[in-house]
Amino acid sequence: MNKSKSSEVYAWTQSGPVYSPASLEDIKNIDLLKSACRTKHLFLPNKPQLLRSIYSFLFGKKNRIDYRIGKASKIPSNFIRQEPWEIEYLYMLSHYSKVGILETGRFNGGSTLVSSLANKSVPIHSIDFDPKDDDFLKGLFSELNVGTNVNLIVGDSQKTKYQSIKDIDLLFIDADHSKEGCFNDMKNWWDNLISGGSLLLHDCYFGCEVQDAVLEFIKNYDLEIVISPYKSHEHRRYPQGSFCHLLKR
Ligand SMILES: C[S@@+](CC[C@H](N)C(=O)[O-])C[C@H]1O[C@@H](n2cnc3c(N)ncnc32)[C@H](O)[C@@H]1O
Repeated sequence: MNKSKSSEVYAWTQSGPVYSPASLEDIKNIDLLKSACRTKHLFLPNKPQLLRSIYSFLFGKKNRIDYRIGKASKIPSNFIRQEPWEIEYLYMLSHYSKVGILETGRFNGGSTLVSSLANKSVPIHSIDFDPKDDDFLKGLFSELNVGTNVNLIVGDSQKTKYQSIKDIDLLFIDADHSKEGCFNDMKNWWDNLISGGSLLLHDCYFGCEVQDAVLEFIKNYDLEIVISPYKSHEHRRYPQGSFCHLLKR
């Protein structure tokens, strides 16, 4: 797009044009979050080409993707256990939530932070039986001025119900990655998910039991497929990474 001809464009950022002050805030949030993404599959361009070639030669890291992210910010590098394009997708779905969000598996709280920056009004519940450091996460919430709608639960997500969790329209599963564990999470929270709500799973790819759990689940529950669970082990090469996205009918 020619900059000078684009009168509807509110501002230009590194990520491209934005069309309203509200979306500019979202783009800034997403850029901030991506600076804290998981980097194990990325070749960051701040490394000189020669260094990268030597690195590849020595460690055989052929499965990395060239990607540019901003400098690490107040959110530490690798805090969010997702690829940058997965962060973008989770942010978008969280932004559109109108009823409530539940995530199983918080670890550092990276995905919790993504949802809390994307949506400041609906209740966001996060369950983990062994979170890394909730005090640090709460410190980030106050620095970023978010998180007042977040309910951090320390406990099991598979077989336990919590009174504070009512209806949700986004269920994000990222806890136990075994077939049984993932299946239990989907089953445990299915009735809380409203019709039309999104079921999003991380690490749904060939070789990870999350895929086996999802393939079993869709045989028995009434769902529409938005992003297929059939992904190869090269999940990082898909536009939405290892996410599988289903809608409850
Ligand atoms: C992959 S990490 C979550 C990463 C996080 N969603 C993110 O994107 O930054 C998985 C977490 O699930 C938690 N977990 C595993 N099994 C669980 C269970 N049955 N109940 C609650 N949490 C569980 C672990 O303690 C771990 O912190």
